[in-house]
Amino acid sequence: MLAKNKLNSVLVTAMAHVLVFDSGVGGLSVVAELRALMAGVYVTYVADDEFRPYGDKTETQLQARLPGLLQTLVMAVNPDIVVLACNTASTTALQDIRAYLSIPVIGVVPAIKPAAHLSRSKHIAVLGTPGTVRRKYVDELVNDFAKDCRVYLQGSSALVGLAEHKLAGKNVDIANIKAEIAPIFASTGGANIDVVVLACTHFPLLLDELKLAAPHAVNWMDSGTAIAKHTRSVLKSLDLKSVPNRPQTVLLIGGQHNKTRTQIFENYGCEKTVIL
Ligand code: DGL
Repeated sequence: MLAKNKLNSVLVTAMAHVLVFDSGVGGLSVVAELRALMAGVYVTYVADDEFRPYGDKTETQLQARLPGLLQTLVMAVNPDIVVLACNTASTTALQDIRAYLSIPVIGVVPAIKPAAHLSRSKHIAVLGTPGTVRRKYVDELVNDFAKDCRVYLQGSSALVGLAEHKLAGKNVDIANIKAEIAPIFASTGGANIDVVVLACTHFPLLLDELKLAAPHAVNWMDSGTAIAKHTRSVLKSLDLKSVPNRPQTVLLIGGQHNKTRTQIFENYGCEKTVIL
Protein backbone atom coordinates (compact mmCIF):
# COMPACT_ATOMS: atom_id res chain seq x y z
CA MET A 1 0.00 0.00 0.00
CA LEU A 2 2.79 2.36 0.99
CA ALA A 3 4.71 1.55 -2.21
CA LYS A 4 1.60 2.21 -4.30
CA ASN A 5 1.07 5.58 -2.61
CA LYS A 6 4.68 6.48 -3.24
CA LEU A 7 4.37 5.54 -6.92
CA ASN A 8 1.21 7.65 -7.22
CA SER A 9 2.99 10.58 -5.66
CA VAL A 10 5.90 10.28 -8.12
CA LEU A 11 3.56 9.96 -11.12
CA VAL A 12 1.35 12.87 -10.10
CA THR A 13 4.17 15.28 -9.49
CA ALA A 14 6.06 14.23 -12.63
CA MET A 15 3.06 15.33 -14.68
CA ALA A 16 2.45 18.61 -12.89
CA HIS A 17 3.01 22.04 -14.41
CA VAL A 18 4.00 24.70 -11.88
CA LEU A 19 4.22 28.39 -12.70
CA VAL A 20 6.84 29.90 -10.39
CA PHE A 21 6.77 33.69 -10.19
CA ASP A 22 9.17 36.22 -8.67
CA SER A 23 10.49 39.71 -9.36
CA GLY A 24 13.81 38.18 -10.45
CA VAL A 25 16.02 35.16 -9.84
CA GLY A 26 14.97 34.73 -6.18
CA GLY A 27 12.28 32.21 -7.03
CA LEU A 28 15.00 29.87 -8.30
CA SER A 29 15.73 29.07 -4.64
CA VAL A 30 12.17 27.71 -4.52
CA VAL A 31 12.53 25.93 -7.90
CA ALA A 32 15.52 24.06 -6.43
CA GLU A 33 13.36 22.83 -3.54
CA LEU A 34 10.49 21.86 -5.86
CA ARG A 35 12.83 19.83 -8.04
CA ALA A 36 14.50 18.23 -5.02
CA LEU A 37 11.12 16.92 -3.94
CA MET A 38 9.51 16.32 -7.36
CA ALA A 39 12.28 15.45 -9.77
CA GLY A 40 10.10 15.36 -12.89
CA VAL A 41 8.06 18.51 -12.26
CA TYR A 42 7.53 20.83 -15.25
CA VAL A 43 8.27 24.48 -14.41
CA THR A 44 7.48 27.70 -16.21
CA TYR A 45 9.50 30.42 -14.48
CA VAL A 46 8.59 34.09 -14.66
CA ALA A 47 10.83 36.97 -13.55
CA ASP A 48 9.38 40.48 -13.47
CA ASP A 49 12.66 42.25 -14.30
CA GLU A 50 10.79 45.33 -15.41
CA PHE A 51 9.34 46.11 -11.98
CA ARG A 52 12.09 44.82 -9.68
CA PRO A 53 12.83 45.47 -6.86
CA TYR A 54 9.40 44.80 -5.42
CA GLY A 55 10.69 45.60 -1.94
CA ASP A 56 10.84 49.32 -2.74
CA LYS A 57 7.33 49.49 -4.22
CA THR A 58 4.21 50.55 -2.33
CA GLU A 59 1.39 48.17 -1.51
CA THR A 60 -0.82 50.10 -3.93
CA GLN A 61 1.68 49.67 -6.77
CA LEU A 62 2.01 45.92 -6.22
CA GLN A 63 -1.72 45.40 -5.74
CA ALA A 64 -2.35 47.26 -8.99
CA ARG A 65 0.18 45.27 -10.98
CA LEU A 66 0.18 41.70 -9.74
CA PRO A 67 -3.37 40.26 -9.97
CA GLY A 68 -3.83 41.22 -13.64
CA LEU A 69 -0.30 40.17 -14.53
CA LEU A 70 -0.70 36.74 -12.92
CA GLN A 71 -4.07 36.32 -14.61
CA THR A 72 -2.53 37.03 -18.02
CA LEU A 73 0.36 34.64 -17.36
CA VAL A 74 -1.95 31.84 -16.24
CA MET A 75 -4.13 32.31 -19.34
CA ALA A 76 -1.01 32.17 -21.53
CA VAL A 77 0.78 29.14 -20.04
CA ASN A 78 -2.12 27.19 -18.46
CA PRO A 79 -0.34 25.73 -15.39
CA ASP A 80 -1.88 23.47 -12.73
CA ILE A 81 -0.76 25.70 -9.89
CA VAL A 82 1.03 28.99 -9.19
CA VAL A 83 3.83 29.32 -6.65
CA LEU A 84 4.21 32.98 -5.80
CA ALA A 85 7.89 32.63 -4.92
CA CYS A 86 8.17 36.12 -3.52
CA ASN A 87 7.60 37.14 0.10
CA THR A 88 7.01 40.77 -0.87
CA ALA A 89 4.28 39.88 -3.34
CA SER A 90 2.72 37.25 -1.07
CA THR A 91 2.56 39.47 2.03
CA THR A 92 1.04 42.26 -0.08
CA ALA A 93 -1.23 40.81 -2.74
CA LEU A 94 -1.84 37.08 -2.18
CA GLN A 95 -5.58 37.45 -1.54
CA ASP A 96 -6.05 39.77 -4.53
CA ILE A 97 -4.17 37.38 -6.81
CA ARG A 98 -6.19 34.39 -5.59
CA ALA A 99 -9.39 36.30 -6.31
CA TYR A 100 -8.32 36.69 -9.97
CA LEU A 101 -7.41 33.04 -10.54
CA SER A 102 -9.32 29.78 -10.59
CA ILE A 103 -6.29 27.57 -9.85
CA PRO A 104 -4.48 27.23 -6.49
CA VAL A 105 -1.89 29.85 -5.60
CA ILE A 106 0.75 28.96 -3.01
CA GLY A 107 2.24 32.03 -1.36
CA VAL A 108 5.73 32.15 0.09
CA VAL A 109 5.72 33.98 3.42
CA PRO A 110 8.38 34.41 6.13
CA ALA A 111 9.10 31.27 8.20
CA ILE A 112 8.50 33.04 11.51
CA LYS A 113 6.60 30.20 13.16
CA PRO A 114 9.30 27.51 12.75
CA ALA A 115 12.00 30.07 13.57
CA ALA A 116 10.34 30.94 16.90
CA HIS A 117 10.00 27.25 17.60
CA LEU A 118 13.66 26.54 16.82
CA SER A 119 15.14 29.49 18.72
CA ARG A 120 16.58 28.71 22.14
CA SER A 121 17.56 32.26 23.01
CA LYS A 122 14.13 33.57 21.88
CA HIS A 123 15.85 36.30 19.89
CA ILE A 124 15.10 35.93 16.18
CA ALA A 125 15.71 38.19 13.20
CA VAL A 126 13.59 38.57 10.10
CA LEU A 127 15.66 39.63 7.10
CA GLY A 128 13.42 40.58 4.19
CA THR A 129 12.85 43.37 1.71
CA PRO A 130 11.98 46.82 3.11
CA GLY A 131 8.40 46.20 1.95
CA THR A 132 8.00 42.79 3.57
CA VAL A 133 9.27 43.81 7.01
CA ARG A 134 6.80 46.73 7.05
CA ARG A 135 3.75 44.63 6.14
CA LYS A 136 0.86 44.00 8.53
CA TYR A 137 1.04 40.36 7.45
CA VAL A 138 4.44 40.05 9.15
CA ASP A 139 3.21 41.80 12.32
CA GLU A 140 0.40 39.26 12.45
CA LEU A 141 2.80 36.32 12.03
CA VAL A 142 4.92 37.71 14.87
CA ASN A 143 1.85 38.20 17.06
CA ASP A 144 0.42 34.79 16.31
CA PHE A 145 3.58 32.67 16.48
CA ALA A 146 6.50 34.54 18.04
CA LYS A 147 5.01 36.32 21.03
CA ASP A 148 7.62 34.73 23.29
CA CYS A 149 10.49 36.05 21.15
CA ARG A 150 12.20 39.34 20.69
CA VAL A 151 11.96 39.89 16.93
CA TYR A 152 14.43 42.09 15.02
CA LEU A 153 13.13 43.25 11.63
CA GLN A 154 15.63 44.24 8.95
CA GLY A 155 14.85 45.24 5.37
CA SER A 156 17.35 45.28 2.53
CA SER A 157 16.98 45.84 -1.18
CA ALA A 158 20.75 45.85 -1.64
CA LEU A 159 20.84 42.11 -0.83
CA VAL A 160 18.30 41.52 -3.63
CA GLY A 161 20.63 43.31 -6.03
CA LEU A 162 23.62 41.32 -4.76
CA ALA A 163 21.79 38.01 -5.30
CA GLU A 164 20.94 39.13 -8.85
CA HIS A 165 24.63 40.00 -9.37
CA LYS A 166 25.79 36.66 -8.06
CA LEU A 167 23.45 34.78 -10.38
CA ALA A 168 24.52 36.93 -13.30
CA GLY A 169 28.03 35.57 -12.68
CA LYS A 170 29.44 38.72 -11.02
CA ASN A 171 31.54 38.89 -7.86
CA VAL A 172 29.85 39.57 -4.56
CA ASP A 173 31.91 41.40 -1.95
CA ILE A 174 31.35 40.04 1.57
CA ALA A 175 31.85 43.58 2.94
CA ASN A 176 28.66 44.63 1.13
CA ILE A 177 26.72 41.77 2.72
CA LYS A 178 28.16 42.64 6.13
CA ALA A 179 27.00 46.23 5.80
CA GLU A 180 23.43 45.02 5.23
CA ILE A 181 23.18 42.60 8.14
CA ALA A 182 25.48 44.25 10.73
CA PRO A 183 22.73 46.56 12.14
CA ILE A 184 20.65 43.57 13.29
CA PHE A 185 23.46 42.04 15.31
CA ALA A 186 24.72 45.43 16.56
CA SER A 187 21.36 46.47 18.02
CA THR A 188 20.70 46.02 21.76
CA GLY A 189 20.28 42.31 22.41
CA GLY A 190 21.34 41.43 18.84
CA ALA A 191 24.25 39.34 20.11
CA ASN A 192 21.63 36.83 21.36
CA ILE A 193 20.06 36.18 17.95
CA ASP A 194 20.25 32.48 17.14
CA VAL A 195 17.84 32.22 14.16
CA VAL A 196 17.59 34.49 11.12
CA VAL A 197 14.54 34.12 8.88
CA LEU A 198 15.43 34.61 5.23
CA ALA A 199 12.20 36.38 4.37
CA CYS A 200 13.04 37.03 0.73
CA THR A 201 13.50 34.26 -1.82
CA HIS A 202 16.63 35.95 -3.15
CA PHE A 203 18.47 35.53 0.15
CA PRO A 204 18.97 31.72 0.24
CA LEU A 205 20.97 32.26 -2.95
CA LEU A 206 23.46 34.20 -0.78
CA LEU A 207 23.58 31.70 2.06
CA ASP A 208 27.34 31.04 1.83
CA GLU A 209 28.08 34.77 1.83
CA LEU A 210 25.64 35.46 4.68
CA LYS A 211 27.34 32.82 6.81
CA LEU A 212 30.71 34.48 6.21
CA ALA A 213 29.32 37.93 6.95
CA ALA A 214 27.52 37.13 10.22
CA PRO A 215 29.40 37.97 13.45
CA HIS A 216 28.39 34.67 15.04
CA ALA A 217 26.90 31.36 13.91
CA VAL A 218 23.09 31.30 13.60
CA ASN A 219 20.44 29.10 12.00
CA TRP A 220 19.31 30.53 8.66
CA MET A 221 15.71 29.63 7.96
CA ASP A 222 13.84 29.98 4.69
CA SER A 223 10.45 28.71 3.55
CA GLY A 224 11.60 26.73 0.47
CA THR A 225 11.32 23.15 1.74
CA ALA A 226 7.95 23.73 3.42
CA ILE A 227 6.61 25.39 0.26
CA ALA A 228 7.75 22.46 -1.90
CA LYS A 229 6.01 19.99 0.42
CA HIS A 230 2.83 22.05 0.49
CA THR A 231 2.86 22.38 -3.31
CA ARG A 232 3.25 18.63 -3.73
CA SER A 233 0.38 17.93 -1.38
CA VAL A 234 -1.95 20.39 -3.18
CA LEU A 235 -0.95 18.93 -6.57
CA LYS A 236 -1.92 15.46 -5.39
CA SER A 237 -5.47 16.68 -4.84
CA LEU A 238 -5.84 18.18 -8.34
CA ASP A 239 -6.93 16.81 -11.71
CA LEU A 240 -3.80 17.71 -13.62
CA LYS A 241 -3.87 19.20 -17.12
CA SER A 242 -1.41 17.86 -19.67
CA VAL A 243 2.15 19.13 -19.50
CA PRO A 244 3.02 21.48 -22.43
CA ASN A 245 4.85 20.06 -25.38
CA ARG A 246 7.62 22.70 -25.26
CA PRO A 247 10.86 23.17 -23.33
CA GLN A 248 10.59 24.33 -19.72
CA THR A 249 10.75 28.06 -20.23
CA VAL A 250 11.82 31.19 -18.38
CA LEU A 251 9.78 34.27 -19.25
CA LEU A 252 11.61 37.53 -18.50
CA ILE A 253 9.24 40.47 -18.32
CA GLY A 254 11.13 43.45 -19.73
CA GLY A 255 14.00 41.00 -19.72
CA GLN A 256 17.54 41.50 -18.67
CA HIS A 257 19.11 38.81 -20.71
CA ASN A 258 22.65 37.59 -21.21
CA LYS A 259 24.45 34.32 -21.79
CA THR A 260 25.47 33.84 -18.17
CA ARG A 261 21.93 34.38 -16.95
CA THR A 262 20.56 31.83 -19.44
CA GLN A 263 23.22 29.39 -18.25
CA ILE A 264 22.13 29.94 -14.67
CA PHE A 265 18.48 29.31 -15.51
CA GLU A 266 19.63 26.09 -17.22
CA ASN A 267 21.32 25.03 -14.00
CA TYR A 268 17.87 25.13 -12.42
CA GLY A 269 16.39 22.92 -15.16
CA CYS A 270 14.93 25.73 -17.30
CA GLU A 271 15.71 24.88 -20.90
CA LYS A 272 14.76 28.05 -22.75
CA THR A 273 14.67 31.78 -21.98
CA VAL A 274 12.21 34.16 -23.65
CA ILE A 275 11.91 37.92 -23.21
CA LEU A 276 8.41 39.35 -22.93
N1 DGL B 1 12.34 37.80 -4.09
C1 DGL B 1 11.41 38.70 -3.56
C2 DGL B 1 10.92 38.39 -2.17
O1 DGL B 1 10.91 37.24 -1.77
C3 DGL B 1 11.49 40.17 -3.88
C4 DGL B 1 12.74 40.86 -4.16
C5 DGL B 1 12.49 42.27 -4.67
O2 DGL B 1 12.18 42.41 -5.85
O3 DGL B 1 12.56 43.23 -3.87
O4 DGL B 1 10.49 39.25 -1.46
